[in-house]
Amino acid sequence: MLTQRLTIDCDSPQPEILARAAAVLRGGGVVAFPTETVYGLGAHALDARAVARIFEAKGRPAHNPLIVHVADVSEARRLAARWPDAAARLAARFWPGPLSLVVERASSIPDMVTGGGSSVALRVPAHPVAWQLLRTSGLPLAAPSANRSTQISATTADHVMRQLAGRIEMVLDAGPSAGGLESTVIDVRSSPARLLRPGLVSRDELQQALGETIDWPAPGTTPAAGPLPSPGMQLRHYAPRVPVDCTADDGLPRVHALTDRGLRVGWLAVGQPRPGCWPASTTMLWLPADPVRYASGLYAALHELEAAGIDRMVIALPPDTPAWHAIHDRLRRASAPVE
Ligand code: TXA
Ligand code: MG
Repeated sequence: MLTQRLTIDCDSPQPEILARAAAVLRGGGVVAFPTETVYGLGAHALDARAVARIFEAKGRPAHNPLIVHVADVSEARRLAARWPDAAARLAARFWPGPLSLVVERASSIPDMVTGGGSSVALRVPAHPVAWQLLRTSGLPLAAPSANRSTQISATTADHVMRQLAGRIEMVLDAGPSAGGLESTVIDVRSSPARLLRPGLVSRDELQQALGETIDWPAPGTTPAAGPLPSPGMQLRHYAPRVPVDCTADDGLPRVHALTDRGLRVGWLAVGQPRPGCWPASTTMLWLPADPVRYASGLYAALHELEAAGIDRMVIALPPDTPAWHAIHDRLRRASAPVE
């Protein structure tokens, strides 16, 4: 299959390009599109055959459910069997935006979308292209991140093409996704609400909106007992194809130790390192010591290091404060040993 790549304006998406993408979606095809978090891989959420194509393209296990993207709250409510007070509050405060709400599913949603479970994750995206595509197509769109299963999420159309060219009908290219990390996922079926995945909306913001404390696991952890509440919480995830070492220091001692063993190393630093302090054979990238800008550039940096032909990645962990929580979560999953 030839994957069409169409350039589209990030702020005022051209109606004729949206119409072409919508036609593919209505025909049961798969279209990758930008959101404010990462690129998504979209298909008609109520068409089981279209949704099956997403799983096929990603190589995603069938038990891992998808987030359904909708244009507004009233459409979200149509796809939910119940709309708890917490859902109403959070939707009013954070939609459109990077927050996915897990609620009881309506019977119109195919099992394929929910991994056979009784809940569904819903979100109204803020990116103009994503939002206008929902409007133009008139469809709810199931859309996981546009990467092969367990690999690094895509924040540009190039990243999507690298992993999925030939497997999907179309990619809408609107430049880099600014947010850079996936949405926060929160289960609002019970009280207190339960965080399933940290993301761009922080714990403080959620608690403020809800007026209660929410259950919040440590970054990179999975619950010790019981079934996985969210299959995407499996430990190794968002991972480059080479082993990753996260270090509490700036990473330089580890970089030297690995290059001394003859390995080709990629080093991701926080803040610009002193010039020349790393071995010449090392590929060095750095990200700003600011969580918003760091998040925005993280996946692109991981993709770039991976493409540099290295044997090992060394990542200096940023500060361990709440503002860095979602970033820590992703870095721990990226560096977890293969299960
Ligand atoms: O920012 C995002 O959320 C991006 C963009 C494209 O919207 N999407 C995304 O989707 O990251 P995905 O499929 O890569 O991650 C969805 C996460 C997974 O961890 C999945 O297990 C969890 O949400 N999830 C989806 N539906 C769920 C449900 N009904 N119950 C519990 N967890 C669910
Ligand atoms: Mg994903």
